[in-house]
This record gives sequence, C-alpha cells and structure tokens, in this order.
Amino acid sequence: MFEKLFSPIKIKDMELKNRIILPAMGTKFSGDGSEVTDKLIDYHVARVKGGSGLNIVEVTSVYTPAAPKRFLSLSEDEYIPGMKRLTDAIHAEGGKAGVQLWLGALAVSSDRAAQIIIPSDMPISAEITIPGMPKELIPVVVDAYGKAANRAVQPAWSNHIFIHNPILFNLLNCTRHKAFSPLPISQIN
Ligand SMILES: Cc1cc2nc3c(=O)[nH]c(=O)nc-3n(C[C@H](O)[C@H](O)[C@H](O)COP(=O)(O)O)c2cc1C
Repeated sequence: MFEKLFSPIKIKDMELKNRIILPAMGTKFSGDGSEVTDKLIDYHVARVKGGSGLNIVEVTSVYTPAAPKRFLSLSEDEYIPGMKRLTDAIHAEGGKAGVQLWLGALAVSSDRAAQIIIPSDMPISAEITIPGMPKELIPVVVDAYGKAANRAVQPAWSNHIFIHNPILFNLLNCTRHKAFSPLPISQIN
C-alpha cells in the first residue's frame, strides 16, 4: 500500500529522497528579531533524520512592518545568512527545504508592534472593524513578496519556494481590489 512512500521522487529540478513532507508549522523557535536560532535548526535536522524528505519551513514574513517577532522573516537581506545556515543543515542530512512566504494578516497579533494587513475591511464586532489595506499598499506588498522570493532563490541559498494557502489566500483576496494586478505566481513558484 505504501510502496511509493519511501522511494525518491523528482518534482521539476528538485529530487526528494522520499515522499514524506513536513508541513509548515510555526514553532516560535526563531529569535525576537525573527532570526534563525540553533534551536530551530536542531528541530528541522531532527525531522530530516527522522525521515522527512522535504521540510516546509514555517511561515516567513515578507514585509518588515507586518513581521511579528518569534516568526521567521525574509523581509530584508540580513536574514539570508541565517536561512542559509538552516537550509545547509537540512541539506547536510539529505533533506530538502521549502519556505512559506507570508504576510501574516490576523496571525501577527501575537506581536502588538506588527501591522495587521488584510485585503478588505473585517468587522469583528458591532463596534470594531479592522480596516482593509489601503490601495497604495497593495503594490508595496506585492513587491515585498517578489523581493522575499528573490532572497529565497538566490544561488547563495539555493532553495525552494512554496506558495502556500495563506499566501494564495492573501493574493487572491487582493484581487477584490480593482487596482490590483495579480502577481504571476508561476514566475516565482
Ligand atoms: C503549532 C502549529 C503551527 C502551524 N503553523 C503553520 C504554518 O506556519 N503554516 C501553515 O500553513 N500551516 C500551519 N499549521 C497547520 C499545519 O500545517 C497543519 O496542521 C498540518 O498540515 C496538518 O494538517 P491537519 O491539521 O489538517 O491534519 C500549523 C499547525 C500547528 C499545529
């Protein structure tokens, strides 16, 4: 029944040692400055040693004002060396790494300094509505996704980007704004 589970598979240029995938799970093992920590590296290496063929590294912020602490970020170049250390450690054990680019939305509320960016007004009670992002912010956010994707694929890091549901959700919701021109996801996937 599971004869294929432990056999390698090639997905485009990425060859996995098996078909076991660790889904993205925010660990809160990154530092207060969103940096990769030894604890996060040990966590991922342990999963590779345990048999995971592909670790989808947790949600990773693309836009600094919306980046909560204790979550990973690729919103600035300064994060590349730490991410490379993480993926090098995963690769050294024969695993592969994917990154989940993320804008956060309501989930950033664990850090009161992080900006909640949502595509449309969201009433949460009769009195309170969280405002949707202003139209002017849409191209800024789209640009931030593109820049974070570039940081993830540059040869120094050489990894794989996963456009996961939360991102698609954000992007597709953005299309509600007439001013928004959808990001060509296939170009950065
Ligand atoms: C602690 C925790 C953190 C999670 N973080 C993420 C995340 O960063 N990104 C994501 O897409 N899903 C996240 N999830 C959802 C998991 O990926 C999901 O639970 C997993 O794929 C298993 O699917 P299931 O819950 O439908 O069985 C998280 C789940 C848990 C329990």
